[in-house]
Order: sequence, then C-alpha cells, then structure tokens
Amino acid sequence: MGLAATVATAVWVMLPAYVPNNAAVLAGGGRPIDGGRTWGGKRVLGDGKTWRGTAIGTLVGAALAAVLNAVQPAAGDAVGVALPSFPPAAMLALPAGAMLGDILASFLKRRTGRERGAAFPLLDQLDFVVVALALAAIAAPAWFGDTFTLGVLVAILVLTPLLHVLTNGAAYLLGLKNEPW
Ligand code: CTP
Ligand code: MG
Repeated sequence: MGLAATVATAVWVMLPAYVPNNAAVLAGGGRPIDGGRTWGGKRVLGDGKTWRGTAIGTLVGAALAAVLNAVQPAAGDAVGVALPSFPPAAMLALPAGAMLGDILASFLKRRTGRERGAAFPLLDQLDFVVVALALAAIAAPAWFGDTFTLGVLVAILVLTPLLHVLTNGAAYLLGLKNEPW
C-alpha cells in the first residue's frame, strides 16, 4: 500500500474511535460514573466521566461505523482505495474502547493528583486509541489482522495526536470544551 492509501485507511478505520470523545463532550453531563466516590482522598474518575457522555459517545461511534459500512463502496471508489468495512464486533469495540481508554486515563490522572481538566501529555492524545485497538483486536481478531497492517498502525500513532490536538483546539475555540486538550 502506498502512503496515501495507508493514511486514508488509517483515518477511515479509526473514525468510529475518534468521534465518541467529541460526542461525549457535546452530550456529557448528569451522573458521574464514579457516583462521586473517592479513593485515597481523590475522586475515582471525576465529574468529567458521565454515564450519559459514555453511552452517547459509544452509540454515536457505532452509528458512524454503520454509516461508513453503507458508503464504503462509493467512498473507496472515490479515493481509489479498498477501504475496510466494519464487522459488528468492531462497530462496538472501537467506540467502546475509545470511551474506556479515556476513562482509564482519568483514573490515572486522579491517582497522580491531577484535577479534572488537567493535561497529561501523550496520555490525553493516545489513551483512547490504544484501548480502542486492543478491544478491536480481542473482539474481531481476524479482521484486525487483515486491516491493521504495520503501516496503518504507524500512521494511526502519528496522525492521532495531530488530529486530537486540532479537534480539541477547535472545540475549545468554539467554546464547547473548557480546555484545549
Ligand atoms: N464527557 C462525559 N463522559 C465521558 C467523557 C467526557 O460526560 N465519558 C464530557 C464531560 O462533560 C467532560 C467533557 O466531556 O467534562 C470533556 O471530556 P474530557 O476532556 O475527557 O474530561 P475532563 O472534564 O477534562 O476530565 P478529565 O480530567 O478526567 O479528563
Ligand atoms: Mg480533559
């Protein structure tokens, strides 16, 4: 696969993992997952991880995967690349893994004394990708092996922090998010 096809595949296949966090920012609020509980004097997760944000984020990511499946032949033709489609297990594992990765990162942030909204460079940019990939590998191993070639994985690890900084910076400038990370 050439570079352009690798990059197109990487972005396409990760869209159901990229969108949930942004959907959670728009949909978040309500009861926090940790119910306000603390551990060692610090919140377990914090008020920034809510049931509603997590549920809606996961559903939006899965719905996006269904849309991508529907437009996959046309999109592949348009860019001249055989773009992958998403088996049902991956449609759920990618967005659920993205949400779980973000939640685990908040757990680590609270354990290391970082308040809600504090930055944790690299963890903020890659938490959701690592866990989304891990869950996809567990839930749909054959599809994962076919789709995530070494080149696609490298493209994801390079492009994701860039896309994350750009989208969160934009959400901050639009007043949708309190911090630009
Ligand atoms: N959000 C949510 N549920 C999630 C993830 C995010 O409701 N599982 C919403 C919350 O309103 C949150 C906002 O999206 O405040 C921004 O998400 P994020 O930056 O991940 O959370 P922070 O508030 O910065 O908290 P943390 O320090 O724990 O990351
Ligand atoms: Mg944050």
